[in-house]
Amino acid sequence: MHEARDSIDQTFGLVPTMGYLHEGHLSLVRRARAENDVCVAWIFVNPTQFTPGEDFERYPRDEDRDTRLLEAEGVDILFVPSVEEIYPPGFSTVVEVRGIITEHLEGQFRPGHFRGVTTVVSKFFHIMQPDRAYFGQKDAQQVAVIKKLVRELDFGIEIVVCPTVREPDGLAMSSRNAYLERSERKAATVLYRALSAAEQLFRQGGRRGGALRTAMTNILATQPQARPDYVSVADPETLDELDLVTGRALASLAVYIGPTRLIDNVVLE
Ligand code: PAF
Repeated sequence: MHEARDSIDQTFGLVPTMGYLHEGHLSLVRRARAENDVCVAWIFVNPTQFTPGEDFERYPRDEDRDTRLLEAEGVDILFVPSVEEIYPPGFSTVVEVRGIITEHLEGQFRPGHFRGVTTVVSKFFHIMQPDRAYFGQKDAQQVAVIKKLVRELDFGIEIVVCPTVREPDGLAMSSRNAYLERSERKAATVLYRALSAAEQLFRQGGRRGGALRTAMTNILATQPQARPDYVSVADPETLDELDLVTGRALASLAVYIGPTRLIDNVVLE
């Protein structure tokens, strides 16, 4: 594959996914197609990024539908490896970005999650050697971690971040939205409403991290089905929590709606 690529000097755009595709994923595919000669997608529900007791077993999967969608979008290569192909028996290598950036927020509630992400992403980057890789802003901390990984290990891959795609009522698209029952689906709009409250306060001049977090917490408190893991206003690159916002800030949250854990964020700028 790489020989062919080198000889004809084509650019490769990679769209990494765990499948059960929605418009958010498809927006990454469209961008990758527009910006590269060859668009490669992978579908792999990566077991090592799920913590014990999480939803690895029941994570939604529909390979036939995903394949049809990717074909319709004109993806050139689809890679759907098995767990054994990626992690053969005895596999013991990890790639880890250490520090606050992986310990805070998602890292605090999902220990080992980012180690699983950076290990599998490194492996796929080596296998496919793309010029660009496309990720959604919805997973803002993942994006920050992968950018640091690529920089520090000199992968030489451009990380392209695409905007979060939302349902008409503001809910960020996510494969896990499939878990929501009807009343939970309605309740889930509280995440974006909370983020919008922070945005509004920011637009009105609010710069204190505490006040911005309180604005979000107050909205979440109006929804009895919502149980927050965290509400954060942090530096978008380092993920350090901010007392005072002097430049850009990432307002983010993780909230259980019933048994389903959802994340979302907006950049305040
Ligand atoms: O964002 C995801 O779907 C996953 O974390 C990724 C990047 C495909 C790695 O498994």
